[in-house]
Amino acid sequence: MKQIYAGAFAIGLFGVLGACAPQTTKEAAAKASPAPAQEVVRLDEREILPLNQMQRQHVLDEMRGLLIATQGVVEGLARDDMEMVAEAAKAASMRGRGTVERPNNMKRLRMGQVLPPEFRQMGRATHEAFGEMAQMAADGKPAKDIQLKLVDTMNNCVVCHAAYQIPNP
Ligand code: HEC
Repeated sequence: MKQIYAGAFAIGLFGVLGACAPQTTKEAAAKASPAPAQEVVRLDEREILPLNQMQRQHVLDEMRGLLIATQGVVEGLARDDMEMVAEAAKAASMRGRGTVERPNNMKRLRMGQVLPPEFRQMGRATHEAFGEMAQMAADGKPAKDIQLKLVDTMNNCVVCHAAYQIPNP
């Protein structure tokens, strides 16, 4: 009889421990693990462009090209080197190889479905403006005029960056 009581006690004790143990580990795990992804608060409220890795890479590559072109135009103007201005600007024109808005790139990367028309229009206008800057430099137009064209064009950089983001998918 004693043995039966002892056995029942042992089973009861393990039962209690068994019931408690998983609960405590679960609670501890809940405290330690970060919040699930869907609960992450986005501080960046700009419109998300849902690009895949390849599309994102291509657009950001193009962006770095725009920055290089801008640097080149500013440097060329500062040094009175119109050839430098023309060359730098041309690389970011609609003819530039990396230009996303070029029809072959749009098609190859299937950008039509993911880039809003406003985005494409602003992007295209930016590349066309660089093309015009290249032409102005080649035509020997005054540096001040080219500089003002760049100032105007850079408003596109500002406006577009304020409106959109491209998170890493
Ligand atoms: C039509 C829209 C648009 C225009 C115009 C535009 N950008 Fe961007 N650019 C973007 C977006 C969207 C991003 C991603 C921003 C983000 O996710 O925070 C970006 C990112 C960039 C980056 C970061 C690239 C990287 O590797 O992360 C640079 C540099 C940049 N842009 C330069 C420029 C410059 C310079 C101009 C103007 C001459 C310009 N952009 C014009 C939309 C634009």
